[in-house]
Amino acid sequence: MFDLEVRALQFNAQVQTDLLCLVTEDELQDYAWPSPAVKQIMEAQKFSGKPGETSSCVFLPDGGDQPRKVVAAGLGKEEELTLEKVRRAVGAGLKEADKLNIALLTTMPWTNERLSAGDAARAVTEAYLLAAYRFDRYLAEKKASSVRSLQVGYGPEQEVEVIAALKLGQSLGEATNLARDLVNEPANVMTPERLAQEAQAAGEKYGFAVEVLEEEAIEELGMEAYLAVAKASANRPRLIIMRHLGDPANPDQVLGLVGKGMTFDSGGLSLKQAKGMEAMKFDMAGAAAVIGAMSALAREQVRLNVVAVVAACENLISSRGYRPGDIIGSMAGKTILVESTDAEGRLTLADAVHYIITKENASVVVDVATLTGAVIVALGNLTTGVLTNDDSLYQRLQQAAEKSGERIWQLPDFPEYKEQNKTPYADLRNVGGREAGTITAGLFVAEFVQDRPWLHLDIAGTAFSEKDGAYMVQGATGVGVRLLYHFAETYL
Ligand code: BES
Ligand code: ZN
Ligand code: ZN
Repeated sequence: MFDLEVRALQFNAQVQTDLLCLVTEDELQDYAWPSPAVKQIMEAQKFSGKPGETSSCVFLPDGGDQPRKVVAAGLGKEEELTLEKVRRAVGAGLKEADKLNIALLTTMPWTNERLSAGDAARAVTEAYLLAAYRFDRYLAEKKASSVRSLQVGYGPEQEVEVIAALKLGQSLGEATNLARDLVNEPANVMTPERLAQEAQAAGEKYGFAVEVLEEEAIEELGMEAYLAVAKASANRPRLIIMRHLGDPANPDQVLGLVGKGMTFDSGGLSLKQAKGMEAMKFDMAGAAAVIGAMSALAREQVRLNVVAVVAACENLISSRGYRPGDIIGSMAGKTILVESTDAEGRLTLADAVHYIITKENASVVVDVATLTGAVIVALGNLTTGVLTNDDSLYQRLQQAAEKSGERIWQLPDFPEYKEQNKTPYADLRNVGGREAGTITAGLFVAEFVQDRPWLHLDIAGTAFSEKDGAYMVQGATGVGVRLLYHFAETYL
């Protein structure tokens, strides 16, 4: 990841850099443009401040000899303003700034009673870091954004609030970009071993403890379902355990995060079709989300105990691999009929969830996984599907989603759905049939959460984007990092 700089700056009329003006439709008339000429030009270009709209110009300030560049980005109607609209405007403005080859951009975030200077500064910082992200390490010719630094202006008396918010925005933006890097790396690079090394590197950098277990230790724990999935590949599994014990006075309160870490999912003997299989390098996006969230939580020294577990492995084919029809065990002792070797994620999650409850004392469990194609059929690429056994937890997640701008939607968990995971031959089967595939996959994991409050996030549709978005570039989105961070915050 390259270095993008963000800093706070006490704003005044003397600031002589290139500007990003975030403007609402309502204030267009009296907006304090840097000069009357700029106002005229913006009007001539019919800039109206609508969401997504941008405009720009180069002008010579009165009495100055250096031309300056101004980009305007619309925020829409003031009464409809949200943090997400601020992020989108920054994303759109950045594309415009790029065309003008601007290197240092200064912006003064918009605030009102509903949008504090701090929230706005955080959103601007986040959006800039997310929008300027590129995965170009394998390109001879880089296509970096021209904007290398962003200055976020603040008014008198806003200094303390804005500087803290900017720091948080930076932690969250960089943690999300770390997750995106992990996901964008191809599977020949991002093996279970490498994923463990990356978690260790993040732990060292941001200050959380990382323990990595190799096969023998995983066997001793009895994680038979996880090991069955891992069996075929020459790239051996790694159980990655990350601990941020920020509240040692309350050892019984431990937030447990579990991320699906399939570094590649060929489907195994229940082989996926060739078309689109390359996308299955992203099957560790849940793991990336929890590594990113741990990085931000540790960096911000959040006063909570958070433990994250990733049962990393690769789902391939070989004579050692597991087969459809196999009956396997699990750490919890339940037996599972493998109807499809492609429904491997829930097998690794089952053992990871059991591990985090019994060995790490998790009192709340959240799992994040690119688990089912069915969630894409149900919700498309816009929304993460959620299951829970505790509605108050879902409310916390909704609060978090409002802060992060990530979209979530709860799916039903009526007990009748559990019937689909039953078989006469074992305690459970790993496929619940074609119908309600996201729900039955989630309810399979639920069989292992005991009595713990639990949330299940199916990010198969939201972890990866085929096209550029308002402030996301094509590729991994880092979904879940900011959501999990803000979810954890609800316990403070
Ligand atoms: N990793 C996939 C889920 C997936 C599929 C993500 C397509 C993104 C796009 C998962 O391991 C899987 O293969 N699930 C199967 C389950 C089925 C065999 C019950 C699926 O969704 O088809
Ligand atoms: Zn699969
Ligand atoms: Zn998978």
